[in-house]
Amino acid sequence: MHLPPLTESPEYAALLAHHAEIAEVPVLSHFADDPGRFEALSFRLDDLLVDLSKHRLTPKTLSLLVALAEARGVPARRDAMFAGEHINTTEDRAVLHTALRNQSDRPVVLDGVDVMPEVRAVLDRVEAFVEAVRSGAWRGYTGQAITDVVSIGIGGSDLGPVMVTEALWPDHHPRLRVHYVSNVDGGHLHRTLQGLDPARTLFIVASKTFTTIETLTNAASAKAWLLASGAGDADVAKHFAALSTNEAGVRAFGIDPVNMFPFWDWVGGRYSVWSAIGTPVALAVGMDRFRALLAGAHAMDEHFRTAPLASNLPVLMALVGVWYVNCFGAEGLAVLPYDQGLHRLPAYLQQADMESNGKTVGLDGQRVRHHTGPIVFGEPGTNGQHAFYQLIHQGSRLIPCDFIAAAKARHPVAGHHPLLLANFFAQTEALMVGRGPEAAKAEVAGRPDAGTLWPHKVFAGSQPTTSVLFKTLDAYSLGRLIALYEHKIFVQGVIWGVNSFDQWGVELGKVLAKRLQPALAAGDLSAHDPSTAGLIEWYRALAAEA
Ligand code: F6P
Repeated sequence: MHLPPLTESPEYAALLAHHAEIAEVPVLSHFADDPGRFEALSFRLDDLLVDLSKHRLTPKTLSLLVALAEARGVPARRDAMFAGEHINTTEDRAVLHTALRNQSDRPVVLDGVDVMPEVRAVLDRVEAFVEAVRSGAWRGYTGQAITDVVSIGIGGSDLGPVMVTEALWPDHHPRLRVHYVSNVDGGHLHRTLQGLDPARTLFIVASKTFTTIETLTNAASAKAWLLASGAGDADVAKHFAALSTNEAGVRAFGIDPVNMFPFWDWVGGRYSVWSAIGTPVALAVGMDRFRALLAGAHAMDEHFRTAPLASNLPVLMALVGVWYVNCFGAEGLAVLPYDQGLHRLPAYLQQADMESNGKTVGLDGQRVRHHTGPIVFGEPGTNGQHAFYQLIHQGSRLIPCDFIAAAKARHPVAGHHPLLLANFFAQTEALMVGRGPEAAKAEVAGRPDAGTLWPHKVFAGSQPTTSVLFKTLDAYSLGRLIALYEHKIFVQGVIWGVNSFDQWGVELGKVLAKRLQPALAAGDLSAHDPSTAGLIEWYRALAAEA
């Protein structure tokens, strides 16, 4: 389907005209005009509610945005993804992470072959491995059960598993501790291994390509640590497993392919937590919960696949994002989970969103003439409130925010959860309602400096927030939440006309790091720019000091 540039489409022009009419209308006055606004602009899938009513938009905005999504071919592209077409055009690959969580008996046909039997076979193998380790049947080289699993991976081979493992902390196995090492900074590995017993430690090397230098370096050091404890080469098989698409690489590293759990090139790294890459999660929380995670994601897949665009949660969230990026010029998106277990969700979504849609070249190879993915950042509430919310409330930029919470806590500490949720609701309300000049003046009335102080007490209000509220943060609801964001990102990529499934932008730095590394020790620096050469010289001088 050939599409004209987004900025030339009549639907986009209609949206801009509408924006000019309503951009400055306070959100509160929309509520005054429409008593049914909350009902009209909040959307549900079972217990999951997504409230869009605190946004600078009206039902008319949503219908214009839905018309834009139709015109940009979102339904056709969605169907192409589920159907296994090679929609990742720059890498000539299908995008089928949805097959990994397919709970239906529908086949998923890729290039004429149903991938589901293979998907299920790998899951069964992972299950057998997970049960052996969790039950204690899997023994290390001294005959002891495993107590610590160290997953070594980076980017998509790390962020998803870490995030999910952290989120599901109440479900962790009582004996097994699961750790993650990603950074090539040796301090990460060193600190993680401190206090661990090599004889009871199992390493999982997670790398789609099995060529990633950070992961291979950490894995080699981990192997050396094991061998230094007295283990022999033949013992490595008892302490190393691999999650990868590259069997030759796994063999070359010295991991027995019997302990390799494969996945496929049609699983993007940042979409891979559902594949064998999720094995550390399953080790931590058990296979039943890992399957519940997949089931939750599948429920969202079904919703995304079948719900009309006008009530389709990922589509609507995507469209609201497009509204702010392209009509308001918003640059950021704050992800604010009111749940300490979700403390790695912002980092996870940074990769999911920014590596997917941080692009300026469209599918046609031409530079796009509009902004694409936002700068994603965030922290759990209430910590974020005491750090950067000041800028969201009173700064000069418009920052749409996603507030995320579960209604029920999974910890036994009395009184905390209502206080946490009160903060969630208070912040979204304060951001929308703001505080006008009169109220600000009244607050400081009587103070000698009232005349200069009151402007500091004004809050513009109408700061846009999406509220995402569900019952409990368990494996199922977490799978659903992640899939919600995955599809949101996909829909935005379709509207912006970019390929959300490649990541050429991370290549150059990797190549240069490899080339540059030998220069750190010695040698001519004239091939480098003066700044880089100067920094390396300074580094050499400092590193040589006693
Ligand atoms: O950062 C680039 C990237 O290719 C990510 O997309 C990927 O998740 C990560 O590196 C790790 O790659 P691998 O799983 O192949 O080690």
